[in-house]
Amino acid sequence: MWLLSMVLGMTMLVSCAGETARVQTEEFHGADRTDRAVIEFAPPSPETIPGSRLGEQIRLGYEIVVNTQEYGRPYVGNRLNCTNCHLDGGLNPNAASFVGLASVYPLYRSRNAKVNTLADRINECFERSLNGRALPPDSSKMQAIVAYITWLSEGVPQGATIPWRGLQHIDSRRPLDPANGKKIFANKCAFCHGSDGLGTMSGPPVWGPKSYNIAAGMARVSVAAAFIKSNMPRGWGWTLSDDDAYDVAAFINAQPRPDFPGKTNDWPKGGKPADSPY
Ligand code: HEC
Ligand code: HEC
Repeated sequence: MWLLSMVLGMTMLVSCAGETARVQTEEFHGADRTDRAVIEFAPPSPETIPGSRLGEQIRLGYEIVVNTQEYGRPYVGNRLNCTNCHLDGGLNPNAASFVGLASVYPLYRSRNAKVNTLADRINECFERSLNGRALPPDSSKMQAIVAYITWLSEGVPQGATIPWRGLQHIDSRRPLDPANGKKIFANKCAFCHGSDGLGTMSGPPVWGPKSYNIAAGMARVSVAAAFIKSNMPRGWGWTLSDDDAYDVAAFINAQPRPDFPGKTNDWPKGGKPADSPY
């Protein structure tokens, strides 16, 4: 459990540093929005994991999230782990944190125009962000991930508005400049992600056959820009200008990556975001 404690400790530091109001992405303006009292970012400490079968599930869920390559193997089709985007095991409030999510789902989402359970939403990341396939909803692995996120959501009331949810959206104030993005990538990203974008020992792939597919959230320029702005270069979040974050996101997302055949079923009732790549 030392790893989890370390991650929790780190998250406390991060959450103090990044006290800014969050704008939720349009997908989050669902029927669940209530404007109740502000909720604190206060994930439970690892000592509160029960020493029962449920506790084992929570620990397995954590392992799957931080080492999806090993623990989620048959369902993963690229070289990513959940924690590569949901940083620090989903505990980083700047990187689509898992804290509180069990109190947000089930939730209607326009991408598939239905009410999604937490398991449905997790499977969307398996199929898209991990370019793999869905886990059976009643499988022990899916139940473990749900148990982990549910544990991280203790004390957050059902239907609450979670201020740290998602990514902090930024605006682009001028047309995208992928040539500038290419330069930024070479100067500030290639060191860890490789000049070919395929990843190194120090960073996962950001394009190519082992990256997220075109139907992943990260394949939208505004989503990648928001993630990059607050988290990249790793350890130097908030150092790029908004324009540079957009340009480098546009450059990365213009590179080849896997297709997603199921994309034709997306947004069946409308609501497709303007920056969807398909
Ligand atoms: C010091 C090394 C380092 C640098 C420099 C760096 N990254 Fe990362 N990046 C990482 C690591 C490590 C992760 C995975 C984080 C984790 O697992 O904790 C990551 C994750 C990502 C991800 C999400 C996962 C994926 O591979 O799709 C994107 C997108 C990304 N970085 C883009 C960038 C961009 C753009 C830059 C330049 C502005 C950049 N990174 C600079 C190390 C780095
Ligand atoms: C390539 C990056 C990436 C990877 C890898 C990834 N995700 Fe995601 N995930 C995202 C993005 C981006 C979002 C949407 C955040 C937003 O729209 O603000 C998201 C959303 C989610 C949500 C819904 C969040 C919410 O606020 O409603 C859950 C749950 C989730 N992911 C779970 C997982 C799990 C579990 C894994 C591993 C099996 C995983 N994700 C892997 C990028 C990723």
